Amino acid sequence: MKHGKMGCVNTSSESLQQRYLVPPFPEVDESNPVVDLLLSHRSVRRFIDEPVTERHVATMVAAAQSASSSSNLQLWSVVEVRDQATKQRIAEVAGTDGAHLASAPVVLFFIADVARACRVFEDEHAKAADSRAVDQEVIDGADMANALNLETTMVAFGDALIAAQNAAVAAEAMGLGICYLGSIRNDVPAIAEILGLPQHSFAAVGMTVGHPNPQRPTRIKTRLPIAAVWHREQYDLAKQSDEVEKYEAAAAQFYTGQGMAPSWIGRNFARLFATGAIGKRSRMAQWLRNRGLGLD
Ligand SMILES: Cc1cc2nc3c(=O)[nH]c(=O)nc-3n(C[C@H](O)[C@H](O)[C@H](O)COP(=O)(O)O)c2cc1C
Repeated sequence: MKHGKMGCVNTSSESLQQRYLVPPFPEVDESNPVVDLLLSHRSVRRFIDEPVTERHVATMVAAAQSASSSSNLQLWSVVEVRDQATKQRIAEVAGTDGAHLASAPVVLFFIADVARACRVFEDEHAKAADSRAVDQEVIDGADMANALNLETTMVAFGDALIAAQNAAVAAEAMGLGICYLGSIRNDVPAIAEILGLPQHSFAAVGMTVGHPNPQRPTRIKTRLPIAAVWHREQYDLAKQSDEVEKYEAAAAQFYTGQGMAPSWIGRNFARLFATGAIGKRSRMAQWLRNRGLGLD
């Protein structure tokens, strides 16, 4: 464990042992502080009462903007929330742990944002022909409906998540902790209303940000053996059963240590395949269509 500017970061070899628990451990570049940081990741859900500054958030957002963006379309935005009452409403609507959100000085919402592009479409149409950035020929052949398809929605969602992950890494590099909040998609319309989102946008994911509470340390969580996710030249489904069985044993060690039910397969089987597992999110397609986003 190294203590420094980046908070408590494990060495890569410490992280790999905790990440996989059983050998073989991947051979990685162990001389790189960025790799040390990435391999040390764990979600943090309890924070201390110490401010997350404007500079912290600016650093996260600039890092997010520095991530790759599909065709540099930049179809994402971020909304910063600090207001306790708003956080509480969001926790209620999302059906998530209120104490987690309450203890986070900042919650960021990464927005899949086609609204800005639609505004540009309208602005260009409203401008006099000689002051447009777009040729008349292109304007004549353009239709906003052309952008409102499933591909654009996926680009916006992907851009938002890629940006979010850069923000997460920047936060962790400053010694902060984060936790993603996919639970905000339990009620897409209500979250959009709370955040004042325009049509053609929705909150893809939330992220709590704060200084980790040392009284509630979190452990590095195990992952599948690297061979399960790493295919060479072509995908190999045949190896998956064995790799998952190996992981089941390692995961049991981790989850038992956390006082949780030991089976990773059991946990995820129920989450994915139980009747009605998707819950409120079965309405996702309708929610997104109602927000003017394309799904075809
Ligand atoms: C897209 C996404 C959504 C998530 N949503 C939630 C959430 O709503 N609530 C929560 O407590 N954790 C959430 N998480 C955190 C995951 O549970 C966590 O990343 C996973 O259990 C692995 O643990 P680790 O991040 O500590 O390695 C989310 C993570 C991701 C990537």
